[in-house]
Amino acid sequence: MGNKFTSFLVLLLCFIINLVNSEYYHSKSILSMAPHNSVTHLHFYYFDIHTGNNPSAIVVAHANQTTLSPTFGNVYAIDNPLREGPEETSKIIGNAQGLYVSSSRNKDDVTLTMYVDYAFTYGELKGSSISILSRNPVSAPTRELTVVGGRGKCRMAIGFAIISTHFLNVTTGDGIIEYNITVYHN
Ligand SMILES: *[C@@H]1O[C@H](CO)[C@@H](O)[C@H](O)[C@H]1NC(C)=O
Ligand SMILES: *[C@@H]1O[C@H](CO)[C@@H](O)[C@H](O)[C@H]1NC(C)=O
Ligand SMILES: *[C@@H]1O[C@H](CO)[C@@H](O)[C@H](O)[C@H]1NC(C)=O
Repeated sequence: MGNKFTSFLVLLLCFIINLVNSEYYHSKSILSMAPHNSVTHLHFYYFDIHTGNNPSAIVVAHANQTTLSPTFGNVYAIDNPLREGPEETSKIIGNAQGLYVSSSRNKDDVTLTMYVDYAFTYGELKGSSISILSRNPVSAPTRELTVVGGRGKCRMAIGFAIISTHFLNVTTGDGIIEYNITVYHN
């Protein structure tokens, strides 16, 4: 009898504690769930096309001066295709949407600061994306960009991209950029 009553009290106590805990928040130990327990490598080509009937990068704002660098202050909106290979016919595996701004006053050192979400529409990472927020000194042969987050399979992503220009038309700004990305994520 006494034992049954004690068991009942313990159960009641557990129930009350549970009620209190579940009222408006719920937390648990994360010791067994390291936030970055996967590493993923990505390789693709980013097509930044300013010309033609269907450009994927357009100027949405610019400064009213050209005394410094001619592009300083230009803000571009992009919806750039990501392809498996560098050919225009290569399979599209995603798209990069967002903004970049020409952020260097020095005309000999064009830098784009990028605020871009790279989403994947094909294969293993379909429905997932990674976010880059980084400066990109475009005249350097290879650049490193910071990956600051991600969605879907890339949730909690942190990492870096090593990029280099595969093709650039300096007159039009049309470019094809090779990306190698390493991300650590959930
Ligand atoms: C742009 O700059 C020119 C020359 O300084 C000036 O006359 C003009 O009012 C400016 N336009 C705007 C929209 O600020
Ligand atoms: C990306 O990685 C591949 C394979 O390791 C390599 O051949 C290529 O040069 C790299 N490109 C960049 C831009 O890092
Ligand atoms: C760059 O674009 C201009 C204008 O479309 C074109 O005349 C020129 O041939 C292009 N250059 C290269 C290297 O593709």
